[in-house]
Amino acid sequence: MDLFEYQARDIFEKHGVPVLGGVVATTPAEARAGAEQLLGGEPGVVVVKAQVKVGGRGKAGGVKLATSAADAEAKASEILGMDIKGHTVHRVMIAAGAKIAKEYYFSVLLDRAERRCLAMASVEGGMEIEQLAVERPDALAKVAVDPLVGIDQVKADEIVAAAGFDADVAPKVAVVLQRLWDVYKSEDATLVEVNPLVLTEAGDIVALDGKVTLDENAGFRHPDHAELDDAAAADPLEARAKENSLNYVKLDGSVGIIGNGAGLVMSTLDVVAYAGEAHGGVRPANFLDIGGGASAEVMAAGLDIILSDPQVRSVFVNVFGGITACDAVANGIVAALEILGDHATKPLVVRLDGNNVVEGRRILADAAHPLVTLADTMDGGADKAAELANA
Ligand SMILES: Nc1ncnc2c1ncn2[C@@H]1O[C@H](COP(=O)(O)OP(=O)(O)OP(=O)(O)O)[C@@H](O)[C@H]1O
Ligand SMILES: [Mg+2]
Repeated sequence: MDLFEYQARDIFEKHGVPVLGGVVATTPAEARAGAEQLLGGEPGVVVVKAQVKVGGRGKAGGVKLATSAADAEAKASEILGMDIKGHTVHRVMIAAGAKIAKEYYFSVLLDRAERRCLAMASVEGGMEIEQLAVERPDALAKVAVDPLVGIDQVKADEIVAAAGFDADVAPKVAVVLQRLWDVYKSEDATLVEVNPLVLTEAGDIVALDGKVTLDENAGFRHPDHAELDDAAAADPLEARAKENSLNYVKLDGSVGIIGNGAGLVMSTLDVVAYAGEAHGGVRPANFLDIGGGASAEVMAAGLDIILSDPQVRSVFVNVFGGITACDAVANGIVAALEILGDHATKPLVVRLDGNNVVEGRRILADAAHPLVTLADTMDGGADKAAELANA
């Protein structure tokens, strides 16, 4: 789960990482009030920052300086509603303005290939870090971190030395890196990135921007993480699927897919994309794994979500009967279509195989639902579903 910048800021603060004041606003009037609160009646500068889970906000015009509370209101009304790389800005953070002397970069992440963590740091932070990594890789220090040891004083000193921090700031940066490791470890993150980490004119080290990815597999250890999960930011269909505990990912095509088991669903996507080439290039509309016990309710919830996707023109149900045998799945499909009634309007191709397949097919044939076509093979079903989507 990726966090918004304001959520990362709050977590940083909790772990003693130096941050500036920040107030979230969803309307220009709230932005004005937030700026008044931060400025406390004194003249000064605040920064209005789009809160979207995508990089490059500054370049897209989503980070703007404001010189007064009234100006913050004006800048917020420009930024709210803005589209940044397909993400609509629903809220902004009003941040206290920093007097920046230098911008640095720091991140720590899970390096799956090396089975350890990796810290990266640069004294040339700011907005172009990806470009820096490509053009002058030497300017970005990469230091392996043993997950069992973490970033202690010794490791922090090694990182700041590798990155070439000036001797006068190196000790201060090393302290902040240890706190950022504390964020990474105790919150079960897979990424903590600060760009920029700044040196202020007053000589303080402050995290001005934060990107944090939390490991959802560790969610059971962090009941407080659930409220960070912002359903509104996700795709509305994905949010509904999540409410129903379904593994659903929206894709861009027109053939809805339902299967059981992640592996079978992944190969169904491939087979449908391949078959689609002969039918005007139609593609799968989603990933949906309904898991083992494909009850009528689960099937109905899955079908309902897929049929709510306006891009979907046909649905391919590809189920391998195992512990939940094909007859149970077939009964689930028939019952799901009854539950959905008039809401089911798009053609369904069903391919069943495995345990009790003969009985399963007989149930579907007997039900003779006008929208359902039975397929004998996965390739045949994919081809039929692609053809129907293209009709
Ligand atoms: N509180 C602040 N005070 C002064 N300047 C700021 C502040 N926050 C950001 N800036 C300036 O704006 C630049 C961009 O801000 P930020 O890093 O938050 O956005 P971004 O890098 O464009 O977004 P992303 O990290 O999503 O790509 C910073 O490099 C910094 O120069
Ligand atoms: Mg940034």
